[in-house]
Amino acid sequence: MKILVIGNGGREHAIAWKLHKDDPAAELFCAPGNAGTAAIATNVPIAAKDVPGLVAWAKENRPDFTVVGPEVPLCLGVVDAFQEAGLAAFGPVKATARMEGSKAFAKEIMRAAQVPTADDVVVRTEAEAREAIAKLGVPVVLKADGLAAGKGVSVCMDQKQVEAALRDMFVDAKFGDSAREVLVEQYLEGEEASVLAFVDGATVVPLASAQDHKRLLDGDQGPNTGGMGAYSPAPCMTPDMLAVVKAQVLQPVVDELARRGTPYHGVLYAGLMLTENGPKVLEFNCRFGDPETEAILPRLSSPLLPALQACMDGTLADCPVEWDPRPAVCVVMVSGGYPESYPKGIEISGLDEAAKLDDVVVFHAGTARRASLVVTDGGRVLGVTALGADVREAVDNAYRGVVKIKFDGAGYRSDIAHRALERLS
Ligand code: AMP
Ligand code: GLY
Repeated sequence: MKILVIGNGGREHAIAWKLHKDDPAAELFCAPGNAGTAAIATNVPIAAKDVPGLVAWAKENRPDFTVVGPEVPLCLGVVDAFQEAGLAAFGPVKATARMEGSKAFAKEIMRAAQVPTADDVVVRTEAEAREAIAKLGVPVVLKADGLAAGKGVSVCMDQKQVEAALRDMFVDAKFGDSAREVLVEQYLEGEEASVLAFVDGATVVPLASAQDHKRLLDGDQGPNTGGMGAYSPAPCMTPDMLAVVKAQVLQPVVDELARRGTPYHGVLYAGLMLTENGPKVLEFNCRFGDPETEAILPRLSSPLLPALQACMDGTLADCPVEWDPRPAVCVVMVSGGYPESYPKGIEISGLDEAAKLDDVVVFHAGTARRASLVVTDGGRVLGVTALGADVREAVDNAYRGVVKIKFDGAGYRSDIAHRALERLS
């Protein structure tokens, strides 16, 4: 079995790690990968967004299956291009990857499917935005329609923040073409949770729940980041709540896309606010979450590849998807200065000692090899995941791994899974 994984983050290392664990004989390739994937796969130096380059490599090397990690290649149509070349690839085609690639499109689908979400107005100019803000009131949320590397959302708690967001979107054009259309959205209050599901065009199988930590600092303070850690399961996602999310959110969206002749195949990720009036959708992603995947996949006890193939073949109803009941916690270690500018190429030590600990896996995100060394190569550097008999033990195990790993300027939060621990006590 020859499998290509596209991407170079912690999510892609976790996917490759699980594929390798399920079948050590599988021949794995990662484009472009990182120092972690290099230990179990052959890294191919092609960027994840270089769709023609990926297709050319795949035509020559004929992988049996390809797993696409990030949203950018999915929204560029990498799955369509692979299918045209007669190659099987995991993820939605371009038309349905728009669930993440265009927030206005996602809203249109939600409206048609009567899925609960915040009220919104789509605008094209600052004047239209001001009119919509006057209608919805402050606090209010401004969202660039298109992909913006997770930075296109401004939650404005007061008029000063509204002015800054309007300037970013319309005057400084910080998000370029992605903000040609802007959603002005009602502010929602509640606890945030994500539900990811395997989808095969019709059948929806939710994955184990997870919650990430977006803010840089302990106590959910400081700037937003790509994710400072995650844990699974998320206690707020009770079996009853999960059933509601499946019935009111995931299944109606999947049915609506199928009705339009563009069925959704892949992982559908719903970012939710659990409000007083039930769960409401904040966003959809068209892929596995990062770092949620680093907490979810170590809990998947059934093999990953058959589930991914079933999503594409429409046979998910017949595919077992089983979970280890033990919780998992992933602590992300970041470069000094992240999420602003940070240095690269700093030597990392202690990786082997951390990996030797029971129930601990170190997923690489922004790392590279330099001769015999592993060095930093990004803002989010590593995700240290541990399982435990309960969430307390999983947290302790993860931090036991974290303290063994050293690099100059390393930062991490010391309170990952605090909400789950609070519920426990
Ligand atoms: P998104 O990229 O859509 O997940 O937005 C980033 C973050 O902004 C979310 O994780 C929420 O914390 C926040 N957010 C997005 N939409 C809303 C909303 N309508 N009300 C309150 N917070 C929001
Ligand atoms: N952790 C949020 C995301 O993957 O978009």
